[in-house]
Amino acid sequence: MCRPTTWLLGGLFGLMWVIPVLMTPTTLAQCKSLKTLETKLTDRRRNFKHNFPINYTIKVHYEEIFKLCNISRLRVRVVDLEEGDLQDVWLLVNQEVLKRILRVLPERHPSYKYTSDLEDLFRKIQQVFPPQSDEREPPERIEEIYNRVKEPNSKGWRFVTPKSLLDNCYRTMHCLFKNCFPSEDGEQDYCSALHWRKGRKRQLQET
Ligand SMILES: *[C@@H]1O[C@H](CO)[C@@H](O)[C@H](O)[C@H]1NC(C)=O
Ligand SMILES: *[C@@H]1O[C@H](CO)[C@@H](O)[C@H](O)[C@H]1NC(C)=O
Repeated sequence: MCRPTTWLLGGLFGLMWVIPVLMTPTTLAQCKSLKTLETKLTDRRRNFKHNFPINYTIKVHYEEIFKLCNISRLRVRVVDLEEGDLQDVWLLVNQEVLKRILRVLPERHPSYKYTSDLEDLFRKIQQVFPPQSDEREPPERIEEIYNRVKEPNSKGWRFVTPKSLLDNCYRTMHCLFKNCFPSEDGEQDYCSALHWRKGRKRQLQET
């Protein structure tokens, strides 16, 4: 869990990134695939909470917990970080998360099809996000995340609920691809934890 002081500070610094974020070009095809995922994810409560035993958790790498506070922290701490780096981390981490959930589901489990549909959607999203140019290596911290996620013998494990992992996926998607999710109520700060606070109207509909 990110400590409150860290993310508060991170949130403040995060604001400084609003401008570069807006300039990141996201193509129509990319937004279309992300919106399909968004729609699919509105069903995550039923599939990842109601269909599971109460408080059921799965074991994931530390790095597979990728939340808003991780994004703001990386933005503050990593020099040379590009939005594309964070988007790549998001893609990788969430594909790993889905693999982990599928691994504990028998094929006849009521959430099996839903989870493998999500996996397919991610594969489609991957196709519309071309790999970053070969000339640029991602910052070291980002490489480290890639390596840790792929390390089968990692020592850093945490137990979390599948629903919380998909909530992270949903929120960070809005933060990292905000121009695909314009809102009628004007500019939304999807990267701020406050935006997702319980009690808000949209939150009630979604969780
Ligand atoms: C589930 O977790 C909540 C919050 O930690 C706890 O209050 C509750 O007793 C747990 N329920 C079961 C059945 O373990
Ligand atoms: C996000 O933050 C948590 C808590 O500090 C940490 O365990 C995890 O590794 C971070 N995830 C990434 C992808 O950096």
